[in-house]
Amino acid sequence: MRIVSGIQPTGNLHLGNYLGAIRNWVKMQDDVAAGGGQSLYFLADLHAISQPHVPAQLAASTREMVAALVACGIDPDKSVLFNQAQVPAHAELQWLLNGTARMGWLNRMTQWKDKAGKNREGASVALFTYPVLQAADVLLYQATHVPVGEDQKQHLELARDIAQKFNNDFAAEGAPVFTLPEPIIPPEAARIMSLRDGSAKMSKSDASDMSRINLTDDADAIMAKIRKAKTDPEPLPSDKGGLEGRPEAANLVGIYAAMAGDSVDTVLARFGGEGFGRFKPALGELLVESLAPINARFVELRQDRAALDAILAKGAAKARELGGPTLNAAYQALGLVRG
Ligand code: TYM
Repeated sequence: MRIVSGIQPTGNLHLGNYLGAIRNWVKMQDDVAAGGGQSLYFLADLHAISQPHVPAQLAASTREMVAALVACGIDPDKSVLFNQAQVPAHAELQWLLNGTARMGWLNRMTQWKDKAGKNREGASVALFTYPVLQAADVLLYQATHVPVGEDQKQHLELARDIAQKFNNDFAAEGAPVFTLPEPIIPPEAARIMSLRDGSAKMSKSDASDMSRINLTDDADAIMAKIRKAKTDPEPLPSDKGGLEGRPEAANLVGIYAAMAGDSVDTVLARFGGEGFGRFKPALGELLVESLAPINARFVELRQDRAALDAILAKGAAKARELGGPTLNAAYQALGLVRG
């Protein structure tokens, strides 16, 4: 097994990232190490420049995100932890794959449609070709499995389409150049929604900080955000079916279930019939208790810039080594002469 996944170092790590992806990264890191496989996790800093950004903030957020991932349990001795900018093969392979990806495929990407909105002419070219870089990220390392939240599924399907077309077009006689990666999406936390709007995903780009729980929030902030989270006036139902048409209630129960490692039905068996006046404090306390150790480790780690840079440098050296053979094979398959 070869596990590869990434996160954009823009803003803070939030509960959606944690429950949707990072918790799975940690679990898979340990499973894979036990089975003799390899896990690679990276900061998608090259993706971050597809949208307007402040350079000094990107540099600071990149280091903070390393601290946050290590605080969550990513172990730089077990996983290869790095940032794309130190591994030029990501950008090189993207260019090679740009010859295979089709305009029509990229035009159908919902993230492109959402982020470009009505201003397609003014959007950056990088925002449009973003999913090709994402394909390069995983294909470069022959990833077999990619742990992500539901919102990244379409990008991974595109990565498979690109890999398949490249293998068909350029490796007809030889061995296929790329492995087709499988997404791994946690069923219980595939999509954590905003605390202010049950129909929008929890996101770093939401203007309201009250919409998300950041892993850096202290106990008071967490309790206040859960207390103010949008709900409806009904008590909680006693089974899952009763959450139908109640997106905010479903989201809070889902967060409780994912955090406690229980099923939604188990949570409702306990809280069914109760109002939010009882449920919200219980959810707040569960979050505070679960996130406190991560928060404490993060606060300590983020201060040691030299240690964070050393983690990235070591990870990047290993990533360059692991990605080299596939990059060479891609150049060769395309008939590009190099030295
Ligand atoms: P990003 O930085 O937006 O999010 C990182 C991971 O967190 C998951 N996630 C969520 N899961 C559940 N509920 C939510 N509300 C929620 N918000 C975010 C995302 O699905 C993701 O797994 N394009 C990617 C980064 C990337 C990447 C890759 C991922 C670049 N290259 C290669 C996998 C493989 C992104 O912007 O994720």
